[in-house]
Amino acid sequence: MLIVKNLVAGIEGKEILHGVDLAIKPGEIHVVMGPNGSGKTSLVMSLMGHPGYKVKIQNSKFKIGANDMFTLLPEERARAGLFVSFQNPVEITGVSFLAFLRTASKSLRPDEKIPLSTFKEKVLDALGIVGLDESFMHRSVNEGFSGGERKRAEVAQMLLLRPKFAILDEIDSGLDVDSLKLVAGAIEHVAEEQKTGILLITHYQRILHFLKPNKVHMLIDGKTKKTGGMKLVRLIEKEGYAAV
Ligand SMILES: Nc1ncnc2c1ncn2[C@@H]1O[C@H](COP(=O)(O)OP(=O)(O)OP(=O)(O)O)[C@@H](O)[C@H]1O
Ligand SMILES: [Mg+2]
Repeated sequence: MLIVKNLVAGIEGKEILHGVDLAIKPGEIHVVMGPNGSGKTSLVMSLMGHPGYKVKIQNSKFKIGANDMFTLLPEERARAGLFVSFQNPVEITGVSFLAFLRTASKSLRPDEKIPLSTFKEKVLDALGIVGLDESFMHRSVNEGFSGGERKRAEVAQMLLLRPKFAILDEIDSGLDVDSLKLVAGAIEHVAEEQKTGILLITHYQRILHFLKPNKVHMLIDGKTKKTGGMKLVRLIEKEGYAAV
């Protein structure tokens, strides 16, 4: 289980998160919505251990299973089963997507010896699920990828790396309707088949037509202010965040 209790964090001496609470079971899909600047990406960065974000660990808690995540470096958090996809994935010139995935995979599971040919097949499968062709394997990570292709490449990473919990920051932004279906299907698949717990950050109801969230949280001014279901999402869509 992933537990976040009373998370207080900030950047550059400015407190942005004033108390975030989450409890996600394996296989559950939780959605976080909230206005621009309410702290959603700051939440993602704080949970992954971005060194720029300072967390007040007194009275706060972030655990995956028995692991106290606050004591771990970002790469150790990844090894403990945490995956993060970024709102704005960066280009890594000179590193092929295949080499990137192979390195990540070996680093997460050093004991798993997979021959390169088998690994390539797995990469092809993951790319196929999100509608990307083989050529993406040989291109530099995200270099020249369109906005939607970057988002789909993030999901392909998640499919391949099989995390216990995945935090997806606006994975649906910029996706056309067909890509949206593929991505939503892939998220549902990992939640159901691999029991990956999902924290999905979004601004839009439309991805929620293609997957069923267990809970929806409203993050307002750095606080999880309300938790509900699709009824709450429809209320926000109609009346805006003032209704929360
Ligand atoms: N390096 C920084 N220095 C100062 N303020 C920052 C810094 N990084 C983020 N902030 C501020 O923190 C607040 C929260 O930003 P954050 O990116 O977490 O919002 P968000 O909820 O993800 O918004 P969006 O929906 O637009 O993606 C914003 O007001 C932002 O300007
Ligand atoms: Mg954001």
